[in-house]
Amino acid sequence: MKSWLFWAAGFLLWIYCSSQRVCEEPPDINFAEIVSEKKATYLENDRVQYRCNPGYVLEGSEWILCNGQEWTPRLPKCLAPCSITKEQLATENLFLFGGRRRTQLIQSNRSLVFQCSEEYILTVPSVRKCVDGHMDLPLCISKSGRNCSGSPRIENGDIITLSEQQYRSGSSVEFRCQKYYAMEGQNRSFCDNGTWTKVPVCLDPCTIPRAKLERQKIEVKVGMDVSENIYVQHGRSMELTCRTGYVLAANSSQSDSIIHCDGTPPVIPRCKEITCNPPRISNGSFRPQRTIYHDGDLLRIQCDHGFNYEPDNGERVVECTRNGWSPSPKCVDVRCPPPPQLPNGQINGIIKERYLPMERVSYRCRSGYSLIGRAFITCLKQRWTEAPRCADIGGRCGRPPHVDDGDIVEIPNSYYNTNDRVTYQCQHRYKMIGSPRVTCQNGYWSQTPTCRVPCTASEEDMRQHKIKLRWKPDDKIHSEAGREVDFECERRSVSDG
Ligand SMILES: *[C@@H]1O[C@H](CO)[C@@H](O)[C@H](O)[C@H]1NC(C)=O
Ligand SMILES: *[C@@H]1O[C@H](CO)[C@@H](O)[C@H](O)[C@H]1NC(C)=O
Ligand SMILES: *[C@@H]1O[C@H](CO)[C@@H](O)[C@H](O)[C@H]1NC(C)=O
Ligand SMILES: *[C@@H]1O[C@H](CO)[C@@H](O)[C@H](O)[C@H]1NC(C)=O
Ligand SMILES: *[C@@H]1O[C@H](CO)[C@@H](O)[C@H](O)[C@H]1NC(C)=O
Ligand SMILES: *[C@@H]1O[C@H](CO)[C@@H](O)[C@H](O)[C@H]1NC(C)=O
Repeated sequence: MKSWLFWAAGFLLWIYCSSQRVCEEPPDINFAEIVSEKKATYLENDRVQYRCNPGYVLEGSEWILCNGQEWTPRLPKCLAPCSITKEQLATENLFLFGGRRRTQLIQSNRSLVFQCSEEYILTVPSVRKCVDGHMDLPLCISKSGRNCSGSPRIENGDIITLSEQQYRSGSSVEFRCQKYYAMEGQNRSFCDNGTWTKVPVCLDPCTIPRAKLERQKIEVKVGMDVSENIYVQHGRSMELTCRTGYVLAANSSQSDSIIHCDGTPPVIPRCKEITCNPPRISNGSFRPQRTIYHDGDLLRIQCDHGFNYEPDNGERVVECTRNGWSPSPKCVDVRCPPPPQLPNGQINGIIKERYLPMERVSYRCRSGYSLIGRAFITCLKQRWTEAPRCADIGGRCGRPPHVDDGDIVEIPNSYYNTNDRVTYQCQHRYKMIGSPRVTCQNGYWSQTPTCRVPCTASEEDMRQHKIKLRWKPDDKIHSEAGREVDFECERRSVSDG
């Protein structure tokens, strides 16, 4: 039993540990030691600090962090110092600045100034830097050494000092590389007892054929070079950019690219045209219709009735960009669900699945209940306005029923007794069908009238369409307007101005 528990606990611990992201032990770095607390395992966000041995200079960050099973940032480095002995200076005929000779340690990236004695010439520069344990000491060349005959030559470069037949020991020539060539080494060579010191090298530039740029739809970002080839000096970079309407084939969210000339032939990126496919819009349409669209092309979006364009930027226009259609066109459903049921009441007319914005639905209460609030509700964006309620009024009539396009003349009460009456009137120009008076009888209202849309038509129209008046127009309209008359339409009301 005990061993089982032990095993289970171990298993749980294993699950816990393996669920944590773990980094490997922090690596050893030459000439450095870890000064932060050592741990058995290194988990996410654990940090480790390094310190270089005395005399060594740290390059990079002294702290590293366990981040996603990797140590970040890059591991630091400890750069070695340079040492110069008094004996070394003596054999090289060198002095330190101020005519001194002593053994010395120089930290990496620090410099020393050197001198030669009177009868010697120092190969420039006199200031030399220690780079990770290495320091190129200048030479002290004896003026009494043998002459050099003729000057040295370099490829793709020229001597810019005066040319001579004979050069004295200690004299020098200066070089310059030809256009686009980069110099590696000192630009001066010295005549040292009959031979020339190391000459510089002129490194080839990178050649980019203009035809290739053209083929790959990319161009130089600044400066129009009309020559056949474009040259980038060794060690330099050049910014390229896709032609307008094009993006990098490798990453369509970018059009700029930098190429470096570092000895290997640079890879010229390829650009592709920005295109958009016709969008898929549910419950909407767009113009113009094409099989493919290009950068900057505009589409006008038309949403179906009951759907709203989103985001509504007023224009309802989207643009083809490198990231596709912007903004992304969408028609959202703004229709209302079926209206809410009213306790002790019901909805007038049939109930539909969906209602368009501004559509109205009216309620009535069952006998013995009075409608409190507005009789109708209106569909707004996906929601209804506040519904009324039906209040118990104990066997009496409630608020008189709502008549579309009509009003009650009297100020309505909350309830009415038997034989109480109300009067309806239709809104301006609407014709009333039925009696304007409605009576409460044992909790029920008698039949309400309806209000109909009138039609107007000119006499000319009526003559043309052979319409006859059903009854004589009233005197007022006849005498005043002359051209317009009211009449009842055959079946349902129409309007014709
Ligand atoms: C070396 O020294 C120069 C200034 O003397 C400094 O700008 C540079 O950052 C230093 N480089 C390193 C690697 O410390
Ligand atoms: C120049 O070189 C010769 C032999 O090549 C040597 O004997 C002589 O000492 C050198 N002179 C100087 C000043 O270094
Ligand atoms: C060395 O060159 C100089 C001038 O260039 C000349 O005057 C001198 O005579 C030459 N010495 C020898 C030994 O050739
Ligand atoms: C040669 O190098 C020195 C020091 O590095 C510099 O001052 C000089 O301008 C260079 N000459 C040419 C022609 O580049
Ligand atoms: C494409 O470029 C974007 C913007 O610079 C960058 O965030 C993204 O990581 C790049 N994608 C790829 C696959 O290189
Ligand atoms: C709205 O779009 C949906 C999804 O494409 C479709 O099922 C529905 O029939 C559309 N409604 C109307 C009213 O067009």
